[in-house]
Amino acid sequence: MSNSTSGTSTPSSAIESLSEETRRFAPPKEFADNAVARPGIYEEAERDYTEFWASWARKLEWMKPFTSVLEWKEPFATWFADGELNVSVNCLDRHVRAGKGDKVAYYFEGERGDRRAITYRELLDDVCRFANGLRSLGIKKGDRVAIYMPMIPELPVALLACARIGAPHSVIFGGFSPDSIVDRVNDSQCVAIITADHGWRRGHKIPLKANVDEALKETPSIQHCIVAKRVDGNVNMQDGRDVWWDDLVANQPTSCEPERMNAEDLLFLLYTSGTTAKPKGIKHTTGGYLTHVTATHQLVFDLKPDQDVFWCAADIGWVTGHSYIVYAPLANGATSVLYEGTPDFPDKNRLWDIVERYRVTILYLAPTAIRTFMKWGPQYPQMHDLSSLRLLGTVGEPINPEAWIWYRDHIGGGKTPVVDTWWQTETGGIMISPLPGITTLLPGSATHPIPGIQADIVNDAGEPVPLGGGGYIVIRRPWPGMLRGIWGDDERYVKTYWSKFPGLYLAGDGCRRDADGNYWFMGRIDDVMNVSGHRISTTEVESALVADPKVAEAAVCGKSDDITGQAIYAFVTLRGQENNGSPEMAEELREFVAEKLGKFTRPKYITFTTELPKTRSGKIMRRLLRDIAEGRTLGDTTTLADSAVVHELQIRAHSEAAKEE
Ligand code: WTA
Repeated sequence: MSNSTSGTSTPSSAIESLSEETRRFAPPKEFADNAVARPGIYEEAERDYTEFWASWARKLEWMKPFTSVLEWKEPFATWFADGELNVSVNCLDRHVRAGKGDKVAYYFEGERGDRRAITYRELLDDVCRFANGLRSLGIKKGDRVAIYMPMIPELPVALLACARIGAPHSVIFGGFSPDSIVDRVNDSQCVAIITADHGWRRGHKIPLKANVDEALKETPSIQHCIVAKRVDGNVNMQDGRDVWWDDLVANQPTSCEPERMNAEDLLFLLYTSGTTAKPKGIKHTTGGYLTHVTATHQLVFDLKPDQDVFWCAADIGWVTGHSYIVYAPLANGATSVLYEGTPDFPDKNRLWDIVERYRVTILYLAPTAIRTFMKWGPQYPQMHDLSSLRLLGTVGEPINPEAWIWYRDHIGGGKTPVVDTWWQTETGGIMISPLPGITTLLPGSATHPIPGIQADIVNDAGEPVPLGGGGYIVIRRPWPGMLRGIWGDDERYVKTYWSKFPGLYLAGDGCRRDADGNYWFMGRIDDVMNVSGHRISTTEVESALVADPKVAEAAVCGKSDDITGQAIYAFVTLRGQENNGSPEMAEELREFVAEKLGKFTRPKYITFTTELPKTRSGKIMRRLLRDIAEGRTLGDTTTLADSAVVHELQIRAHSEAAKEE
């Protein structure tokens, strides 16, 4: 099986690799008859798109209703700017007040089999006590708080407590290394960091607090470190700086005055990789973000909060978890699953066991996970009763039609709609996706922009490409969940997203539309790789490699991978005599990168070379390296300074690929 639709490539080369998909799945009648989204919703939204979003915003609870909807001073938008609300009140208090205090907010499933059903009332109490605890440390509205935690109930509590007191959070995925924590904390000058002693992963302890200790040597802005006890509590605690979560909340009351937040106050920062080594702190604000995620959660997932059990099996460390594990499900009063661990612990039945146990009705996964399940075989899901599932979703990367069909057949019993949802950290919520009661599905296509969103495909000159053609995906007008900028760097915000085509938001993905207007995503068009749905910048991995004193030069690109979508391929030149590199040296470098950035950034392939292919002016020819990594015939090599290099590299890359597979 090959996943030919993904990979870093130019839009035009991506188009060539698109297979023609002819299978179609209309919505099942019963599903359509009962769907949240009614026919006509697209037209309604188009008649007045700002009013469409305002109607969703009005479903939230406002402390002060908004009168202004959108102000657009390109590329800076405000939504509902004179309104005031608190996100945690919307997620918790209003449901408890409405008599839903005993409803389960989360079924928490620990990796080792510990389980807890957490009701809305319990969650509200926990959030209030923790929010009071944060305030007792002097943390106040506007202060940034870093969060580096495993997927345990304290994690959503931490996010919501920050929202309650108006302190923007900056969640750092628990797989990141101390260096990555340092960069992110220092960029936004966080005053506190919330972590846990350790995390569990496949039965092993992950040293979260030790990583934080390492990082805090270089983060002068941090005054407090709050530590939840997940494992054994066996960690160093520094007097005056570190405090146990349990001690902090011990004497705190279960009520806590929520901060009145302006709709445009910062709710959170989330760092994401771009084309330079420095990650971008993406800014999301309060009212528009909550409007966008609650609307899409209802429309795209056809959510019926009183019947459904929703499971987004992502990590809260990424935007998918922020939007569809924490904020949208809670604000919509839904019941969700929160799972701490991996799909194969203690064995490959784990996810299906969870679906069966909690009667999950809606499941949201990454294509990389689906491809892994395909490799394991259908015998695992077959051993379980998955009949509660009525809708499946995917996100994070292009899904190949084979995986889409397998998902529908083996997980969805050959009946459930599958919604392929395209969006980004920057967009806040889903942008392009079917509505399962309305849209005819095509395996591998995210189909159409959702109501209220106007997307387009343009060519290099910024002109719309007629149906049937491919190019850059752009968004034509503001939307409520859009990023409000990059922390501390308006210039980079403008340059990255709004300068290639004035007036159009550039997402950085290649995409094609078929004759019927369905969107087919092709992967990134810039120097960003997508490995198992994780965005990793080639430059970031290159800088990690050259930080090793033995490395003279490195160039990194993505290589298509059957399971992870893309895998990281590094071409490395060593200093001095060692320039041939040994397998041991390659292993050492992999470890080095893993330590610098996090295990998920470890290069799968490393090819040593005495020289990288360069133009006469000395620029590394990345396009050629990508072709070499993919084993493609090479394009134009006439601008190369030394063409012998390339031939030698092709031979080496070929044997590297053969060795790994
Ligand atoms: C990719 C994750 C194809 C895309 C929510 C995007 C997708 C990047 C899809 C954002 C999809 C996400 N089909 N590609 N359905 N969903 N992507 O910021 O390249 O972690 O730009 O947000 O993932 O990744 P991020």
